[in-house]
Amino acid sequence: MSKFAKAEVLSVHHWNDTLFSFRTTREPSLRFKSGQFVMIGLEVDGKPLVRAYSIASPHYEEHLEFFSIKVQDGPLTSRLQHLEVGDEILVGRKPTGTLVTDDLLPGRNLYLLSTGTGMAPYLSLIQDPDVYELYDKVILVHGVRYVSELAYADFITQELPEHEYLGEEIREKLVYYPTVTREDFHTQGRLTDHIRSGKLTEDKGLPPIDPAHDRAMICGSPAMLDDTSALLDELGFKISPRMGEPGDYVIERAFVEK
Ligand code: A2P
Repeated sequence: MSKFAKAEVLSVHHWNDTLFSFRTTREPSLRFKSGQFVMIGLEVDGKPLVRAYSIASPHYEEHLEFFSIKVQDGPLTSRLQHLEVGDEILVGRKPTGTLVTDDLLPGRNLYLLSTGTGMAPYLSLIQDPDVYELYDKVILVHGVRYVSELAYADFITQELPEHEYLGEEIREKLVYYPTVTREDFHTQGRLTDHIRSGKLTEDKGLPPIDPAHDRAMICGSPAMLDDTSALLDELGFKISPRMGEPGDYVIERAFVEK
């Protein structure tokens, strides 16, 4: 059997000039855990051209959703950004990844720290009822340069709290903290600075971040991963040493050079 299944594009949404999302059909045999990624792409000159993409949709939905940047000279995204409803893409059969709750020790609050398209895996996690069973609060932090990059903000603040089954838990437990670095916004600056200064927890009425109680996931650019991991290490958090061995936090590189 081929490593890739074919999936049909069901919808495409362009957030701005640099970001878009799309939904595809899903093979019923494709199983994944919230937070995992899968290889997806296109057949180019008879060969698969694929990159890793976090699955942004919840594990119980019939479709798959992906959140992508558009890189004008990117081998894959220069093509993918022109996807239209009815087009076919390739989807790998083996989702994997480190941003899974299995690799975190039990804890009180879960911090989901992201920049840019690094938010994608968290969109799946914040729609997973098990995540709300495990934690008192789930704090989704999204750092971007410009306000137009705060994709899914309306979905998170308007739609999810009204979710048919999860709405109540989401209203009680999900905390959304968007922050913008390069233009005016009610919260400005890098998420690392908001953690270090205590602004994040103060703004949201949360106790100071504490490795004795809190857990975290990090997904962003290599520099963001380095800085955020170093900060958590300084605060006394221990990273999960490898898949299957739980720690206080886990990291995954947002897959951006596409
Ligand atoms: P900044 O505008 O200060 O560079 P990028 O598109 O470069 O990945 O950046 C997305 C967001 O992540 C931007 O708001 C950017 O802030 C921020 N960022 C970039 N590098 C880091 C880092 N090392 N630590 C925390 N945030 C970062």
